[in-house]
Amino acid sequence: MRSKREQWSSGIGFIMAAAGSAIGLGNLWKFPYIAGTSGGAVFLIIYIFFLVILGIPILLSEMAIGRFAGENAVDSCKKLSPKFGFVGGLGIAGAFLVLASYGVVGGWVIKYIFKSFSGSGFGTDFFADYTAQPIEPILWTFVFIAINVIIVTGGIAKGIERVSTILLPVLLIFLIGIMIYCLTLPNAAQGVRYFIVPDLAGINSLSDLSQIAINAMGQVFFSLSLGMGTLITYGSYLSKSTNLTSSTVTIVTLDTLIAVIAGFAIIPAVFSFGLEVTGGPGLIFQTLPVVFSNIKGGRFISALFFLLVLFAAVTSAISLLEVIVSWFSDKTGLSRKVSSVIAGGAAFLMCIFASLSFGVLSEATIFNMNFFDFLNFAADKIVMPIGGFFMCILVGHIWGTDAALEEISNGGKLKFRLKPLFSAAIKYIAPAMIIVIFISSFF
Ligand code: PFF
Repeated sequence: MRSKREQWSSGIGFIMAAAGSAIGLGNLWKFPYIAGTSGGAVFLIIYIFFLVILGIPILLSEMAIGRFAGENAVDSCKKLSPKFGFVGGLGIAGAFLVLASYGVVGGWVIKYIFKSFSGSGFGTDFFADYTAQPIEPILWTFVFIAINVIIVTGGIAKGIERVSTILLPVLLIFLIGIMIYCLTLPNAAQGVRYFIVPDLAGINSLSDLSQIAINAMGQVFFSLSLGMGTLITYGSYLSKSTNLTSSTVTIVTLDTLIAVIAGFAIIPAVFSFGLEVTGGPGLIFQTLPVVFSNIKGGRFISALFFLLVLFAAVTSAISLLEVIVSWFSDKTGLSRKVSSVIAGGAAFLMCIFASLSFGVLSEATIFNMNFFDFLNFAADKIVMPIGGFFMCILVGHIWGTDAALEEISNGGKLKFRLKPLFSAAIKYIAPAMIIVIFISSFF
């Protein structure tokens, strides 16, 4: 017999944990550089469109599945339809992939916190030189994964919820402080304009536009932690009285707010020093340190910034680990502690290869990608859209939107005015869009 399922200690605690999962490297690292390389404000508009039409209905559905079934991601999907356990299985595979690349970047972040204080500062080649090293990045990655294992071992209310409830408000407050500081740098207005005024000059063809749409959809999925079983798993620890709709709105608002605040901090800061915002993934690891080294108190701001990135990364990585742990311990009967160590250890093994792909293994490619890029590709472009698609089919056509709405409205007790929109989105609009974008991403 399984022991009684754990629960969040409060609705707010759940929101903090779920928002903590959503708010991560995707907001502070990916969002600013994807927005920067995908036309700034144009990207922002398309992003918000996908957020409403895909993000919100799928997020709501995943939570409803989890709370209704009260099981890990695989068993929850099975409970709705025995043939659909694979949707949860895809999520678990995806969680591994994301955790492996997350672990590597999390390790870099810890290194950057300490390096911020060193007198020598970051030279222009620091990032490339550091990430190519075989040993040190792996050690920091180990530290990052170990932090996550310890938190998840603590359990739902005492581990995940407690940590998220402390770290998230700290992140929000200090990030706003950094944003205000960056906005007062000389020429910051140029960066602000780039971020909020759509510039159509860079969009010359339908293919440019579809590329932006692909990036925006991928980012919505990644940023809201969709298609990975995270919200199903977190939802399974919810009490029947929680208001799922208002929780969703709060989670999505916080997630978007933090991404936009990060954009308002990073893009103007980069413009202010005449640097390129289109720096790609190196934006916060290569370009931003140059900015920090040029401003008064830069060392302190740099350390604070990377500490906040670490907080965001940890509250997301624990959700990935929890998806795996919850399934693994149910399946094997092993304790939470042992399951966390095993799952963390397996993820760490993948991290080793991902980390080495910046150095000694850079020539080893899969489909022309190094292992790190392949992990991201497999998660963002394959598992998340396929998982999301089948999630829509499961909820829209198998479980049925009436049953889902019954769960969402707490058995009809809560009013939910957007029923027709939700049903249309989950049954038709979201799956159709996912298919179109998924296919076009291969051309
Ligand atoms: N939402 C996280 C971020 O924006 O960084 C990443 C993530 C966490 C994706 C958990 C998927 C997931 F299940």
